[in-house]
Amino acid sequence: MTTTESQPADTWNTPHLQGLMAPVFEERDDTDLAVVGEIPAALNGMFVRTGPNPQFAPLGAYHPFDGDGMLHAVYLADGKARYRNRWVESKGLLAERKRGRACYGGMSNYTIPDEDVLAEGGMLKNTANTATVRHNGRYFGLLEAAPPTEFNRELETLGEWDWGGKLQGPMTAHPKLDPVSGEMIFFGYRPVAPFLMYHEVNAAGELAHSAPLDIPAPVMMHDFAITENFALFMDSPAVFDLEALFAGGEAMGWQPDNGTRLGVLPRGGTNDDIRWFEVPNCYVVHFMNAQEDGDTITLRAPSMPDMPGGLKFEDPDGAREPNMWKWTIDLAAGTVSDEQTDDVPGEFPRVNENLTGRATRYGYNCTARGWEFDFDFTGVVKYDFEADSSSAFTYADTQVSGEHMFAPDPNGTAEDDGWLMTFVTDRTTEQSELAIIDARDVEAGPVARVQMAARVPLGFHANWFAD
Ligand SMILES: [Fe+2]
Repeated sequence: MTTTESQPADTWNTPHLQGLMAPVFEERDDTDLAVVGEIPAALNGMFVRTGPNPQFAPLGAYHPFDGDGMLHAVYLADGKARYRNRWVESKGLLAERKRGRACYGGMSNYTIPDEDVLAEGGMLKNTANTATVRHNGRYFGLLEAAPPTEFNRELETLGEWDWGGKLQGPMTAHPKLDPVSGEMIFFGYRPVAPFLMYHEVNAAGELAHSAPLDIPAPVMMHDFAITENFALFMDSPAVFDLEALFAGGEAMGWQPDNGTRLGVLPRGGTNDDIRWFEVPNCYVVHFMNAQEDGDTITLRAPSMPDMPGGLKFEDPDGAREPNMWKWTIDLAAGTVSDEQTDDVPGEFPRVNENLTGRATRYGYNCTARGWEFDFDFTGVVKYDFEADSSSAFTYADTQVSGEHMFAPDPNGTAEDDGWLMTFVTDRTTEQSELAIIDARDVEAGPVARVQMAARVPLGFHANWFAD
């Protein structure tokens, strides 16, 4: 087991904690931020971006998924902006703060923590570093290996949330909010049976339905999709290997023989109701959206043909370019077809979430310099699936952007009435800004660039919580 004594002094010196990925150690409150351009008056709410930001030097090998979650919020009101950032104060981080050092290993060097740390913080540090969601007035930080962590609008951690003990096991970082029913639909996967659990939280915030779903092997399933009547799962051969993990190896490996299948579960249903459709092997990290038209379900996502390097991103074979694909499931005929719809690699897909699970004409993807998981994003692409066209904006060569999320215009009527927002940081000056692009005219670039007073490290998912 790794101990503090054997901890190398240079564990900060790892590729995923350098440059713009280096953590920040200051929790700030900056008001009346400078703005280049003009913040749209209709944007009133909170933009939140989360990501890994380790407070203590890692125990050993650092994986980019490991770091303590840090929430970065830009509050927009009446054309003005303020910034606040706070660590997610997980039980594990609090245990580490008490001892002044890291006590948890990560995905590349998992260790069971010492007994006293285990009692305070559990087997796994719930960093909640991946994404955020708001449902029934509660804000949650999410880590797919653990239950959600509630926080308030000022980013103070309120603790783990399990719907009164009803949530047994983890929750995906990508729950789906049904814009019509007000439900929050999600799943949890884990390396021990049941490998996949399906959950529905009703509009009143009660966990109303849970069902275990049978899949052949424990796989890493990062996201899923919904339509008005169905939940859709992709079971790809990114198979967990607990033995390897405990032996200090890789948590997940690509096992093509396990195959890939799409699961179609009627919402409210159980394992008896799910239908699986075999598809050619592929891996989807994030789904863009899905819709149903009669007996036909259409699903869109950036997809990779395989993932030979698993989660070991330093492996030169580990990077695959995600390209937009479309799967069409004919429920009456019992068939599924797939086709690549674009050859510009992109990820972190988003749509106008007022139309989650419904027909969407537009989708937004982020472009990158590479796909080695160093978050090196270059800009945003807007797809018009009806016109079969796209438009794009690319930031300056020295700039790195992040996930562009879509904030609908509350006064808008068209699907693309709204703004795309992301943090952008310049590699040479380390100046971070919140870029706001009018989604109706992506090519024009930001209409407002809100200047941060300190660098915001590169990170994972962004969200917009309108007032
Ligand atoms: Fe994600």
